[in-house]
Amino acid sequence: MLELDNVSKSFGGLKVIDSVSFRVRRGSRTALIGPNGAGKTTVFNLISGVYPLDQGTIRMEGGDITALPARLRVRRGIARTFQNVRLMPHLSTVENVMLGEHWRASPFSLTRSRRAVQAAEAALAAAGLGTYSGQVVSTMPYGIQKRIEVVRALAAQPRLLMLDEPAAGLNTAETAELRALLERASAQGITLLVVEHDMNFVRQLCDHVVVLNFGRKIFEGTPVEVHADPGVREAYLGVQAA
Ligand SMILES: Nc1ncnc2c1ncn2[C@@H]1O[C@H](COP(=O)(O)OP(=O)(O)OP(=O)(O)O)[C@@H](O)[C@H]1O
Ligand SMILES: [Mg+2]
Repeated sequence: MLELDNVSKSFGGLKVIDSVSFRVRRGSRTALIGPNGAGKTTVFNLISGVYPLDQGTIRMEGGDITALPARLRVRRGIARTFQNVRLMPHLSTVENVMLGEHWRASPFSLTRSRRAVQAAEAALAAAGLGTYSGQVVSTMPYGIQKRIEVVRALAAQPRLLMLDEPAAGLNTAETAELRALLERASAQGITLLVVEHDMNFVRQLCDHVVVLNFGRKIFEGTPVEVHADPGVREAYLGVQAA
């Protein structure tokens, strides 16, 4: 579904992504993990088109998207959420979800058809968020806002859904609901690429894990293989594994 080939990115002379290559298999639930500052969010920003690459190629379903503007990558089937929730705070929950659909279908004409409202309300209800539909987003607890952002991304009808630390700041019940939401999306055929520090969440949700450290890919494999790898343990603990 997605291929990164020797992707590099520097900020102010500091190379934060260094010749990273990996593939996200269609239908997979792939995790991208690594210590703080490893470059995970930067990889998301490169895939979604927030920043241009310095080097390398990104392909989506075989097509080169390396130079494509972000808004056109949405139309290629890529949607994402942000590490720090980026909803429109002054709009209602349902209006935020409708924005996801608009970006895919008609980014330059914001209409408010009855059909669009109903579709967004149905998506919220399916995610267990129906009661928040008419409420202004800025008044909502953080855990709710994070899940609204996932529903907004799904409203863009992506084939690849990228989530940057979706479980961060959620309590146990909210995390379980999030996982159920993502498992339903996966069952519908949506490929998942997930940045997450909560390794229980990764083990329960994901079937493949790519590990970054200091901007380089240091390992990839199944969650069990990653857990057992001494190099990965060392990267996380900052000490030589026994
Ligand atoms: N726009 C930017 N300008 C300058 N430096 C940046 C920019 N974005 C990221 N960086 C730097 O790139 C490195 C990787 O940051 P990034 O946010 O990708 O890490 P991360 O793996 O997502 O970390 P975390 O787990 O803390 O979210 C860091 O050193 C960060 O300071
Ligand atoms: Mg990050």
